[in-house]
Amino acid sequence: MSFPLQRPRRLRQNSAVRRMVAQTRLHPSQLILPVFIKEGLTEPNPLVSMPGVVQHTEDSLKQVATQAATAGLGGIMIFGIPQKLDATGSEALNPDGILNRGIRAVVSAVGDDLVVMSDLCLDEFTEHGHCGVLDETGRVDNDATLELYGKMAQTHAEAGVHMVGPSGMMDGQVRVIRESLDEVSAQHVGILAYSAKYASAFYGPFREAVDSSLTGDRKTYQMDPANRREALLETELDLAEGADMVMVKPAMSYLDILREVADFSDVPVAAYQISGEYAMIEAAAANGWINRDAAVAESVLSIRRAGADQVLTYYALELADWIHRGLI
Ligand code: PBG
Repeated sequence: MSFPLQRPRRLRQNSAVRRMVAQTRLHPSQLILPVFIKEGLTEPNPLVSMPGVVQHTEDSLKQVATQAATAGLGGIMIFGIPQKLDATGSEALNPDGILNRGIRAVVSAVGDDLVVMSDLCLDEFTEHGHCGVLDETGRVDNDATLELYGKMAQTHAEAGVHMVGPSGMMDGQVRVIRESLDEVSAQHVGILAYSAKYASAFYGPFREAVDSSLTGDRKTYQMDPANRREALLETELDLAEGADMVMVKPAMSYLDILREVADFSDVPVAAYQISGEYAMIEAAAANGWINRDAAVAESVLSIRRAGADQVLTYYALELADWIHRGLI
């Protein structure tokens, strides 16, 4: 019988050695918390499909932003849910619309202690729920949408946002937004481009979170889950158009894409652990089928290991708390 010379188990024998050789760590500054603010609410509204996540009032949004800054999170990504919807999402351009009010509220609460980011998309504002305006045949009109994105970016800059997150997957959106920002002397406002965003079934619970009225799907603008080269092309285009950071979304079913993008991108790469990923963990844990906290930590750690420099996650505050307490 010959015994092994190499024994990888030696470096796993206790928590001290495991901690010493751990290659991937979580730090609060790498985490970005997505939040929802809804017009007309008097109390925060809990979301059934995302237990623990709420739609905020302006006041509760300020509170959570302050908590996020105190916890040392990297950033906060704000989504706005207006009362008035129409065909072109005109509330999105209202300087006093709900998202712009949310940006102002958060900036007034945290100043420069936290990177304040905004979702730059029309789907929360259109009555049909698509990320852009429709042409007479009912197709999402790329270039007409770009004009609105450009104007929307200017209102976000005016409200004090640090970074906008274009999530609509229109061709050329990063360039148009960059030019529109520069036109109003908002050169300091960054762009976190949702570069490789897939048409995913896992966005389901988000549609409840933003009261979405979408019927149909987003397959003519978001990417096909079957494709990988296209993710590289989308990222290259966004980099050439001036993206300051790029993103892969969703995270867990796209870790291979994340790794590839991370290997060639020369700007930071974020990944979004989306609503359905959150809901699956919560649902399984509620049934006693998995250990919730361990699954939460493992899920975000693996997204980091796959190459994400930053992770957008609804667990950001909870994870930061565990990190501070030395639990993970
Ligand atoms: C579009 C947008 C979506 C999400 C973030 N931005 C939904 C979609 O593309 O259908 C999903 C986030 C999540 O599921 O957590 N504005």
